Amino acid sequence: MGKTNIGLLGSGFIANIHAESYSRFVPEARVAAVYGRDSAHVGAFAKSHGIPKAYGDIDALLAGEDIDIVDMCLPNYLHHGAVMKAIKAGKHVIIEKPLCLTLEEADEMIDAAKKAGVLLMYAEELCFAPKYERVRALVEAGAVGKVYQLKQSEKHNGPHSPWFYNKETSGGGVVMDMGCHALTWFDWMNKGAKPVSVYADMKTVMHGDITECDDSTLMIVEYDNGVTCLAEDSWAKHGGMDDRIEVYGTKGVTYADLFRGNSALTYSLDGYDYAMEKAGASQGWTFTVFEEAFNQGYPQELAHFVSCVREGKTPIVTAEDGRKTLAVIYGAYESVRTGAKVKLPFAAKVKYPLQIWKG
Ligand SMILES: NC(=O)c1ccc[n+]([C@@H]2O[C@H](COP(=O)([O-])OP(=O)(O)OC[C@H]3O[C@@H](n4cnc5c(N)ncnc54)[C@H](O)[C@@H]3O)[C@@H](O)[C@H]2O)c1
Repeated sequence: MGKTNIGLLGSGFIANIHAESYSRFVPEARVAAVYGRDSAHVGAFAKSHGIPKAYGDIDALLAGEDIDIVDMCLPNYLHHGAVMKAIKAGKHVIIEKPLCLTLEEADEMIDAAKKAGVLLMYAEELCFAPKYERVRALVEAGAVGKVYQLKQSEKHNGPHSPWFYNKETSGGGVVMDMGCHALTWFDWMNKGAKPVSVYADMKTVMHGDITECDDSTLMIVEYDNGVTCLAEDSWAKHGGMDDRIEVYGTKGVTYADLFRGNSALTYSLDGYDYAMEKAGASQGWTFTVFEEAFNQGYPQELAHFVSCVREGKTPIVTAEDGRKTLAVIYGAYESVRTGAKVKLPFAAKVKYPLQIWKG
């Protein structure tokens, strides 16, 4: 069997991580083409990653190459439209989080993929991060007894591109951007159990001059297996990226973090090239990450989807999982609006999730 051809949509932050991940860690695949709206930028991106074709038009990419998989790395509000095009063109699709802006868009994508007989994978890399998977395996083996509480948190001082702060292009703030990781990971750990309620507290504490979106949030999600889950997500924390989990059981506890605990501890008078995502300055004491993409699970996630396509297997994280996460986010915004715990499932007719809270 020849290589599986990837068509990458986007040439920004996450597209860069995906391109690096394929070329270093997924030998069965090659990125055959990339789409970007800015021809100079996408041309330079293609050159730096050795990608043979760069397009300024998604239809041309879909028509012009023998693409097997479309890898969606565009801003949230473009997910649905571009994914529908890819499905219509008969391509398998892997889609970055969050799945899309609305439950209706999610249903349409899931339905179209089923009818077209193509795979639609939700790219939640935390389900592939080696350290977190080690934790899941030891918890499943009984190391901490019966689990009664989970916590996942992801925090930095705010995203790198303006579209994240615009409710119509992002759909919402840090819960859409990073809370979605926690919610899918809770599902992953609570395999088979259902979220039954959500209570949320959200504020805009640091970026209120540029956005109405939430930038500091807590969500408490109860599952029907009795496990209570706490998601802490922030765009208002200085000092670089923080991503961690805690699992509490009747016979033990386990903590893991993807950045600090995986870093060199460095002191530098003058600073250096790069410490970690959104660290800002690198003078003084810093946490210096290594193999950032690998430790977060991106290559493993992409390799998994490539193997699903090549061997006709169902992905272990699907668009249905992404939809479930989006539905809990809807409930979380309803909880902030009402100040009450919201029973799940919760649905509303909106253009984007933040509208549930802000109108
Ligand atoms: N899994 C993760 O942890 C993770 C991390 C970062 C981003 N993401 C997700 O990946 C997606 C992209 O995020 P990013 O950080 O790469 O964003 P980015 O802003 O760095 O890059 C976005 C890309 O989309 C292009 N783009 C922007 N507006 C466009 C438009 N109107 N038409 C066509 N192209 C347009 C930009 O030119 C750029 O190539 C988002 O859905 C985001 O939530 C996931």
